[in-house]
Amino acid sequence: MVKYYLLYFVYMEQYIINIGQLVNVREQSVLLRGKALADLPVLSNAWLSIRDGKIAAMGSMQDCPATGDIHDAAGGMVLPSWCDSHTHLVFAASRENEFVDKIRGLTYAEIAAKGGGILHSARRLQDTPEAILLEQAWERLQELMQLGTGAIEIKSGYGLNPEAEIKMLRVIKQLAALSPIPVKATFLGAHAYPPAFQQDHEGYIRQITEEMLPVIAAEGLATYIDVFCEKGFFSADETRRICEAGKSYGLIPKIHANQLHLSGGVETGIAVGALSVDHLETMDASTIAQLAASNTIGTLLPTAAYFLRMPFQPARQLADAGCALALASDFNPGSSPSGNMNTVVSMACIAMRMLPEEAINAATLNGAYAMGLGEEMGSITPGKRANLILTRPVPSLAYLPYAFGSNLIRRVMVNGSWLAPV
Ligand code: NIG
Ligand code: FE
Repeated sequence: MVKYYLLYFVYMEQYIINIGQLVNVREQSVLLRGKALADLPVLSNAWLSIRDGKIAAMGSMQDCPATGDIHDAAGGMVLPSWCDSHTHLVFAASRENEFVDKIRGLTYAEIAAKGGGILHSARRLQDTPEAILLEQAWERLQELMQLGTGAIEIKSGYGLNPEAEIKMLRVIKQLAALSPIPVKATFLGAHAYPPAFQQDHEGYIRQITEEMLPVIAAEGLATYIDVFCEKGFFSADETRRICEAGKSYGLIPKIHANQLHLSGGVETGIAVGALSVDHLETMDASTIAQLAASNTIGTLLPTAAYFLRMPFQPARQLADAGCALALASDFNPGSSPSGNMNTVVSMACIAMRMLPEEAINAATLNGAYAMGLGEEMGSITPGKRANLILTRPVPSLAYLPYAFGSNLIRRVMVNGSWLAPV
């Protein structure tokens, strides 16, 4: 009896009907670059069916086969969930004191001298037990899921010693096991030089390559390796060597590049075959052309530029040059204390002049590719996970980024189940 009941649920088709616009409908997915970013295929007045937690079929309401389990979208839009490919979701404490110090005019260097910045987050994380970190991160993840995030990448990088980096990555692994949405782990031991190694870079690089990487590989704790390639942090050559060491353990590079300076991060990322180079606030004609000619994705983090009052990433030039672009939140306590991808998409349109279609593609399909999930997430494609956003009825697609600050999400679906509203 119980068995038949379960089978009934597993094979039952679900329908969402009266969808005003079904957004990012694609038979096949492909990484979008240049002009293709502006092409966002939409099906108007549509239905969508879901089977076994996956997208099954779709069509026009004129010939809708829906029976059984039907959800009426009442004219709202359905989009693939946001794919947030760059976050630092696991951290021990917020840093709003630095936020106020910056308002009062203190510089980054002055804040660091007062004990702030990444090293402050590292001290707090080192002192916080694994179970507490997990609980805090789980709560943040729940909030982001309600905001429409349907897949997420999370970095270590606030441990900065073997014990604390491994602790962080174990927290991410536990999150991934608990989470109904895909969680991808990135090892960012090379986020900053810890105080004891400020004058001994080789010593810390040895800790990364000889003490941390073997454990990470043995325990399967990360898919990606990241380095903060920046003046005062890791040089281009150090970045290259750390990435090569990571690659020898099977990790794929993703780099924090060109945030504050022309750091060589973009060139190094391309040379080591990075999946993505992220930030890109500081670019010139040569780095833009090199990125456009490469297979590496440029991941833009507009909320970090906004929060730090920095010039925004040159999204227009990057897209026009033919780059493959993703958008991500960079959620972290220091430079982007928000993981709200709706805000990221709005800000990309408002401050970086991305078209709504470009921004939505960059935050869904290209975001999925930027964490190796292009075949599983990011578009309305049969066989992909039914991780979806249902909006309130809105007049047009452009209304989504236009009405920044409004919560336009009515329901969120994860693996074919509607999340309970909180
Ligand atoms: O991606 N740029 C380096 N790392 C983070 C900020 C880290 C922090 O301030 O805690 C970022 O913006
Ligand atoms: Fe970051």
